[in-house]
Amino acid sequence: MIEVTDLVRHYPVVTGLRALFSADRHKLVRAVDGVSFRVGDGEVLGIVGESGCGKSTTAKMLAGLEAPTAGSIRINGQDASDLRDRDRKEFHREVQMVFQDPYGSINPSHDVFQVVSRPLVYQGERDRKAIRRRVLAAMDQVGLSPPDLYLGKHPHLLSGGQRQRLCIARAIILNPTFLVADEPISMLDVSIKWDIIRLLRRLVRETGLSLIYITHDLATVSTICDRLAIMYLGKIVETGPALKILTAPAHPYTKALIASIPSPVPGARREAADIKGAMPDAITPTGGCGFVDRCPVAVKRCAVSEPALTRYQGRDAACHLLAESGPAAVPIAMEA
Ligand SMILES: Nc1ncnc2c1ncn2[C@@H]1O[C@H](COP(=O)(O)OP(=O)(O)O)[C@@H](O)[C@H]1O
Ligand SMILES: [Mg+2]
Repeated sequence: MIEVTDLVRHYPVVTGLRALFSADRHKLVRAVDGVSFRVGDGEVLGIVGESGCGKSTTAKMLAGLEAPTAGSIRINGQDASDLRDRDRKEFHREVQMVFQDPYGSINPSHDVFQVVSRPLVYQGERDRKAIRRRVLAAMDQVGLSPPDLYLGKHPHLLSGGQRQRLCIARAIILNPTFLVADEPISMLDVSIKWDIIRLLRRLVRETGLSLIYITHDLATVSTICDRLAIMYLGKIVETGPALKILTAPAHPYTKALIASIPSPVPGARREAADIKGAMPDAITPTGGCGFVDRCPVAVKRCAVSEPALTRYQGRDAACHLLAESGPAAVPIAMEA
């Protein structure tokens, strides 16, 4: 089980020497700004949101590729920041990543065998027979079979889908507890997207690993995700069972996201129009709800006070208008 609590990652807006003289030197990009969630064994959590909302930064912190500015990541009860360097390497081995770009994340001078065996070698495995056996098993698991057809090949001779399978084989060869797939299908042809989704789903079922599936595209999540976390501007604005959120979204942002896809699940309600404008920058905190400028139902309070995630009809949502008790809110237009 992986448990993330109040995870924060800020980046300086300007870096290097320029920062000494820049008026913006104290400014920060709040890439991830207080995110909490849990993923149980064999569970699939979808993290969904527009480009720039902090999905990849969250993923990189989980995999140990970025250090959190604040907050904690616990895997099976163990806190990553309590560990010494050597143990941390072991710890983060439990979390493997599959990246968006199956071309960019492969060393072009390696052949297929080298790509898949590399994590084993890196972890200190020297037994050549054992390495070969595990490479063949991993390739078989991801559907690169018969493996002999691929082993000596260079990855640039593979198709996009085969290359993503290769990346998945490399990610599962150390039997991780968690797989974080960051937009694994967004660069693939439509025809093979579903093959990769089905593959991930099968791996979860067969191996019991937990999956964090990151996407900006809600159309695929009902097939693979048990639960969803909808992110906006570095924060989770709605989280709960996938089917509940897809069929009866509560947060205005989630409603708009769902309204913009053709058909998330049969019978889904559609009541919101497309959202206008773009996500604001994550630099200037407003003190209010991050979605206020684009929200069709915002009230005055939304501009000055930030809503917290609270329980609402079987999920958690961060919206002042969804308080289960309390005075009914009046849309801004009517308040005036
Ligand atoms: N290394 C970095 N330095 C500065 N800003 C960054 C860095 N990485 C990401 N950001 C910023 O953090 C925000 C979130 O980025 P990211 O996590 O990549 O979003 P997503 O994956 O959802 O598209 C964006 O505004 C992005 O520009
Ligand atoms: Mg990203």
